[in-house]
Amino acid sequence: MSNNGNSRFLRLAVLASGRGSNFEAIQRAIEEGRLDACICIVISDQVEAPVLEKALRAGIESIYINPASFAGKAAYEQRLVEELGARHVDLVVLAGYMRLVGTTLLEQYPQRILNIHPSLLPAFKGLDAQQQALDYGVKWSGCTVHFVDAGMDSGPIIMQTAVPVEDGDDEESLAARILVEEHRLYPRVIQAIARGLVRVQGRRVTIAAGD
Ligand code: GRF
Repeated sequence: MSNNGNSRFLRLAVLASGRGSNFEAIQRAIEEGRLDACICIVISDQVEAPVLEKALRAGIESIYINPASFAGKAAYEQRLVEELGARHVDLVVLAGYMRLVGTTLLEQYPQRILNIHPSLLPAFKGLDAQQQALDYGVKWSGCTVHFVDAGMDSGPIIMQTAVPVEDGDDEESLAARILVEEHRLYPRVIQAIARGLVRVQGRRVTIAAGD
């Protein structure tokens, strides 16, 4: 494991509900020495989520927590808080986690929860962002990494990457073009946080130049 200059080594938790390609991209960046972090735990709210199997194959602890087995959202998130706390997690990384984060988790990890969304926010929040972009007729879309707040895809924006919408795109082709950029963007943002370069003032997030 390399350590790039002055960065603080971050202990990450990945919360994911599905495929897990962003998890894999983050783990690859760690293995290639581009990201001064480790993924201590992958947690899924879906028992069949492929991300669980991918984490196991990468030698990373992964657990399924069934939200339906708790009395409500606060109780479910309290269990998440306990799992994260037990592993001394610094930063919570949502990667295709299909739930709104509630106050229990937000209060424990203020400005320490990230999400990635496949559009140029604030356009096209929520589900099917790529199809929303096609239906609207925009010529550019992309991906956004932002801090999570109590709203849906509404927290302060950290970094974005734009991609063109091509004539003849369908949801699949546009999603694939955006996904390539998601896999680049997420590790870059996390590394900027590890290096202490990210500053938040209200909604405005600035990233100082690295050396
Ligand atoms: C990504 O498109 C991400 O932007 C969105 O959900 C998808 C997750 O994909 N939030 P994966 O599970 O990381 O492959």
